[in-house]
Amino acid sequence: MKNVTVVEHPLVQHKLSLMRRKETPTAMFRQLIRELSMLLGYEVTRDLPMGKERIETPIMEMDAPVLTGKKLVFISVLRAGNGLLEGLLDLIPSARVGHVGLYRDPDTLVAVEYYFKVPDELDERKVIIVDPMLATANSAIAAVQRVKEAGARDIKFVCLLAAPEGIEAFQQAHPDVQIITAAIDHQLNDHGYIVPGLGDAGDRIYGTK
Ligand code: PRP
Ligand code: URA
Repeated sequence: MKNVTVVEHPLVQHKLSLMRRKETPTAMFRQLIRELSMLLGYEVTRDLPMGKERIETPIMEMDAPVLTGKKLVFISVLRAGNGLLEGLLDLIPSARVGHVGLYRDPDTLVAVEYYFKVPDELDERKVIIVDPMLATANSAIAAVQRVKEAGARDIKFVCLLAAPEGIEAFQQAHPDVQIITAAIDHQLNDHGYIVPGLGDAGDRIYGTK
């Protein structure tokens, strides 16, 4: 699929299977999503701009590769996005962070916004939006739209699971935004849940059900 990267690394797939298991307890689920976000973070940051800096090792001087450019921005789609955010911040502690608060209306599946706060100069920064689930994609489409309205031009979307229907809708709305996911599942059920999926990501991260 164009503009979709599935991270098929064995560690990613194994950890994802552990997360899918319904008996996996909250603490372990939270730990796993943190670990997975670091592994997905490795993939999504592949094209960060690099420069050289003169340093001195204990042996000699050298021009060593270092990250350059403006600080990266992670934008978490609340609340489940925070599960992915924490591991990414472990990886890149200096990143700027934005939050988009959205919930899915359980009847219409429409994304309803309740919060929006993002860093400035988004037009000059690489922006990575994170939310573990891309189901109908209503939430992801709305989040990307708001972030674009705030100026962002260079955007990637990271999730754990995506439904084929969601990918199609997302790509129609935002063909310029690459999706990085750990898996593409079979389909959505009548309630808009990903099948086989992992259930409600927010509830499983925070133990609210
Ligand atoms: C979940 C998930 C996504 C959304 C995906 O959030 O974290 O944001 O559903 O579904 P969609 O692709 O059909 O829009 P939810 O609305 O359950 O809110 P929560 O994170 O606050 O629990
Ligand atoms: N949101 C979730 O948390 N899980 C799904 O399967 C679909 C939307």
